[in-house]
Amino acid sequence: MERVTIEPDEAVRYAPGTAELRGAKDDIMTDTPQPIFEEDPFDPFDEGSIKITVVDRDGVEHTLAALDGWRVMEVIRDWGLPIKAECGGACACGTCHVYVDPEWMDQLPPPTDEEMDQLDQIFEVQENSRLACQILTAENLEGLRLTLAPGSELDG
Ligand code: FES
Repeated sequence: MERVTIEPDEAVRYAPGTAELRGAKDDIMTDTPQPIFEEDPFDPFDEGSIKITVVDRDGVEHTLAALDGWRVMEVIRDWGLPIKAECGGACACGTCHVYVDPEWMDQLPPPTDEEMDQLDQIFEVQENSRLACQILTAENLEGLRLTLAPGSELDG
């Protein structure tokens, strides 16, 4: 299995929330994102980061850095992995569907009724299905591993 690791010192230039601001939709999907700035005076990872592992729809494993409290969907999207996340995190589309590795299921807060309702409306749901927009990164989730589920693919 191919493995891609994005180190925190790279992350400063592509931190979640910056991709759309810089109008970089074209290079989000490239293998090697281009830097926003030559040097960034603010390194959000100075105090450390949480690493999560995401397996994409092609079976490629990516290790992504995040800070405490970020939505897993945003981490995936803003690192440039293909996830539709059509409603932007409003728990209204189900296109951020992921399969959480079973060993991690008990570590996550249980889904809300709203998330359960949304999961009831999408296909190929399993016992370990969750919506990535409803999972917040936290220190106890260091090493969280999940897989993008069918239906999360970008159109086209
Ligand atoms: S992004 Fe729409 S439900 Fe998660």
